[in-house]
Amino acid sequence: MILPIYTYGNPVLRKVAEPIGRDYPNLSELIQNMNDTMVHAEGVGLAAPQIGLSIRLFVIDLAPFKEDDSELSEFKVTMINPEIIEESEEMVAMDEGCLSIPGISESVSRPEKIKVKYLDENFEERVVELDGFRARVVQHEYDHLEGILFTDKINPLRRQLIKSKLTNITKKKVDCKYKIK
Ligand code: NI
Repeated sequence: MILPIYTYGNPVLRKVAEPIGRDYPNLSELIQNMNDTMVHAEGVGLAAPQIGLSIRLFVIDLAPFKEDDSELSEFKVTMINPEIIEESEEMVAMDEGCLSIPGISESVSRPEKIKVKYLDENFEERVVELDGFRARVVQHEYDHLEGILFTDKINPLRRQLIKSKLTNITKKKVDCKYKIK
């Protein structure tokens, strides 16, 4: 089922999300719905706060990169209660966008490599080391669980320049192919 995506200005995007347990109701259906919603909106990552749930869960699927990079495109994960346990000192800047901030793309600097511990959809604990685009997407989604958006991390001058666009998103004055809330 495709769900509406909560956009910039919605308070749920600013909350620190809560961890969940195995007993969370209809979890596999929720994960399926989040994947459907992400694919429909042509995104590569979606965090639960973006569909209005303040819980520590996100999905990532880099399949859209199949033509550019077949190895990258195999990265498909569900992360529950993730923790970033290591970050490289080396930082790298790259343009980012977000389904909750339609029409805006800005350069964001983030650690190049991370180590992350998480529970998969079967509540099995996993630890992975990631770099490049995988590390970037995980950090972007992880930030959603902390109530942080990529526009918080851009240079202040750029933020000033996109201020009116952000205000328009808050007022839902935005052209968007998917359903927003
Ligand atoms: Ni996002």
